Amino acid sequence: MNPAPATCIRIERLGKTFRGQSTPTLQAIDLAVAEGEFVALVGASGCGKSTLLRLIAGLEAPSEGQVCLDDRPVQGPGCDRAVVFQDYSLYPWLNVLENVRFCRSLRAHTRDASESEVNSAVERAYALLELMGLDEVRTRYPNQLSGGMRQRVAIARALMAQPRVLLMDEPFGALDAQTREVMHELILRLFEIERSTIVFVTHDVEEAVYLADRVVVLAPQPGRIDSIHPVALPPPGARHPDLKLAADFLHQKKIVLDRIRATSGVQRDLDKLSRLAELSRRDRRPDTKPTAGNH
Ligand SMILES: Nc1ncnc2c1ncn2[C@@H]1O[C@H](COP(=O)(O)OP(=O)(O)OP(=O)(O)O)[C@@H](O)[C@H]1O
Ligand SMILES: [Mg+2]
Repeated sequence: MNPAPATCIRIERLGKTFRGQSTPTLQAIDLAVAEGEFVALVGASGCGKSTLLRLIAGLEAPSEGQVCLDDRPVQGPGCDRAVVFQDYSLYPWLNVLENVRFCRSLRAHTRDASESEVNSAVERAYALLELMGLDEVRTRYPNQLSGGMRQRVAIARALMAQPRVLLMDEPFGALDAQTREVMHELILRLFEIERSTIVFVTHDVEEAVYLADRVVVLAPQPGRIDSIHPVALPPPGARHPDLKLAADFLHQKKIVLDRIRATSGVQRDLDKLSRLAELSRRDRRPDTKPTAGNH
C-alpha cells in the first residue's frame, strides 16, 4: 500500500477581518491540502474565496491563525507558490515569450544564475509554450491574443518557476464554454506532468467536480467552511469530458450545488420574492364596492 501523501498546505484556525469591518471575512478555517492534491473552492459571491487564496499566496496577512507550507508559516509571497488571476495580469509591454520568462529573468538578476540554469530556463519556457500551443504566437503582445491564449500564457508563466503550489482564482471565468473545456483538459494534463499542488477557485460547480480531488464549499458572513466533498471519480489525470454526463458525476455535482444553495441565501431571496408577489397580488385586487365619493 502507498503511504499517504504528506501535507503540503496546512490552514489552522485562520481568520481575516479587514480594517473597518465588523464581520470577519473569514473565520476559523481549518484545512489540510496534501502534496499533489487538486482542491477546488466554491461558494457564494463574497464568501471569501479570493481572500483565502490570497492568504495562502502570502498577499494578505491573517488576523488570526496561520497558513503553513511544509509546516512553515507563510509570511509573504514566494516562488514556491504561483498565482493565476482571472484577469490574466500579463505585462502588456512584454511579448508572450518575455511574459513567460519574466519570473525566471527576475531571479537571474537577483542571484547569480549559472549558465546551465539560464539555458534550462530557456528550454523550459519553449517546452511550456509548445505544450500550451503558443509557440507560433510567442512574439505577439497580450493585446494581440484571444482570451484563451492570454490565459494559457498566464498559466505558462505561473508554471515557469516550477512552483510547489499553483493557486488559481477563477482562471477560466471569462472564457466561452468551448475554450473552457479545452482549458480543463490542458490543466489536467499539466497537473499530471508537473505534479503541483493546486488550489482552484471557481463559481462553476461542474468545473470544480470535474477537475478536483476534493471540493470545499465555503459559506458566507462570516466566510467559513460549510462542507468538504471528496470527488469519487477516477483521479483527475484520468478523467475524460464524457464523465460529465455520467450519473455519478451529476449526483456529486447536485450535492455540491445543494450545499451552495443552502448557504448562499438563494432560498432567503426566493422567500422575499414570494412575499413581494403576494403583496403585488393583494394590491392589484380590484375594489368591488366603490365608495360614495367616487360618483
Ligand atoms: N482589501 C479588502 N479590504 C476590505 N474588504 C475586502 C478586501 N478584500 C476583500 N474584502 C471583502 O471581503 C469579502 C470577501 O471578498 P472575496 O473577494 O474574498 O470574496 P469571493 O468569495 O472571492 O467573491 P467572488 O466570488 O465575488 O469573487 C467581501 O465582502 C469583500 O468586500
Ligand atoms: Mg473572488
